[in-house]
Amino acid sequence: MTDRPSKAPAEAPTYPYSPGLEGVPAAETALGYVDGAAGRLTYRGYRIGDLVERGSYPAVANLLWTGDWEPKHHLPTSAVPDAVMTALRALPTSAKPMDALRTAVSVWGATQVLDWPPTAEQARAITAFSPSALAAFARLRQGLEPIEPDPDLDLVPGYLYQLTGARADASTARALDAYFVVGAEHGLNASTFAARVITSTRSDIASAVGGAIGAMKGPLHGGAPSEVVEQLHKVGSPERAEQWVRDAIDRGERLMGFGHRVYRAYDPRAAALRKVVEAMDNKPDWLDLAIKVEDVALRVLAEKHPDRPLKTNVEYYAAAVLQGVGLTPDLFPATFALARHAGWTAHIIEQAADNRLIRPNAIYTGPAERDLPV
Ligand code: ACO
Repeated sequence: MTDRPSKAPAEAPTYPYSPGLEGVPAAETALGYVDGAAGRLTYRGYRIGDLVERGSYPAVANLLWTGDWEPKHHLPTSAVPDAVMTALRALPTSAKPMDALRTAVSVWGATQVLDWPPTAEQARAITAFSPSALAAFARLRQGLEPIEPDPDLDLVPGYLYQLTGARADASTARALDAYFVVGAEHGLNASTFAARVITSTRSDIASAVGGAIGAMKGPLHGGAPSEVVEQLHKVGSPERAEQWVRDAIDRGERLMGFGHRVYRAYDPRAAALRKVVEAMDNKPDWLDLAIKVEDVALRVLAEKHPDRPLKTNVEYYAAAVLQGVGLTPDLFPATFALARHAGWTAHIIEQAADNRLIRPNAIYTGPAERDLPV
């Protein structure tokens, strides 16, 4: 049993205490705005659906970094420095892609001059580097040689090219680009907060992005589109959808790709991605199945939880895009991390521009002051 301190500790508790900082404002931001009740998401005030339809990942990243909307903004992937390639070659082929990406970012940081404060140029550099590094690792672990960036390609088709060695068709590249746009930014989530905390010490952008990747690696961050893929495999065919969904709910299971901590309406990112997937030339085989399962799931969830809106979340159609463009499920989390580079680095710049060391209090719960045993 522990005693409460008998006198006020140096860190006097401040109440109310909110575990997980839930509901506690910890930063001001002009970047992303999530309106969960209305199912709206904006980046610098622009609706996510419009950004997907009329923009591209480089344009959206540039918008987040600078505030300027230049729809034709070009950002190719960049070369992987030798030191990073040496590190990637030294990793076991069994390493998780997220671990490889975090390692690559760390080694990259050691090869750069990253002065304070972090700039849009630095953000551009790390965002352009990471897809090349991840693609290089994805090839090395298969016994294939990495592919040099093609400066004519924008970041997302460039990433696909460096993964496969072939230029993706326009519809495939467009679908993955849309996924990158919707994944670019989402307020003060755990990894973005981690990036801001690291930046607040005046550490550099590579350290902050490396820390953010570490935070995102945990299974509680974001979701797992690969679990949606698995769920659809289990359902098997559209005729089995109704029975499978009802049985799963009766067993107390959660339907993957439905419900959200913040959104109480259809996730606007899912709506934007659904449109893109439906327009793909080479739709994933199981798209019809996915649409049928979604219809049934929304109906059954509304029936079982009439008071709590449980709608489709971004993971559902993210799974369709990632699978549809040919990524293996173990690359899904690290690909999400690539997309989030734009948001992380924009928050890093924003934090540095009006910096205050982030240093909250802990409520001391250990023993009262006492003498060491003799
Ligand atoms: N399937 C079935 N029932 C659900 C689901 C679901 N996907 N989501 C919530 N419920 C039910 C719960 O069982 C609970 O029912 P009860 O009140 O009878 O016990 C009720 O809805 C409320 O659930 P909470 O746990 O309070 O909802 P919370 O806001 O904490 O959960 C979460 C959000 C974790 C995303 C949840 O909806 C879930 O587990 N979904 C499935 C996993 C998933 O898709 N994750 C990706 C999320 S998207 C993202 O993070 C980027």
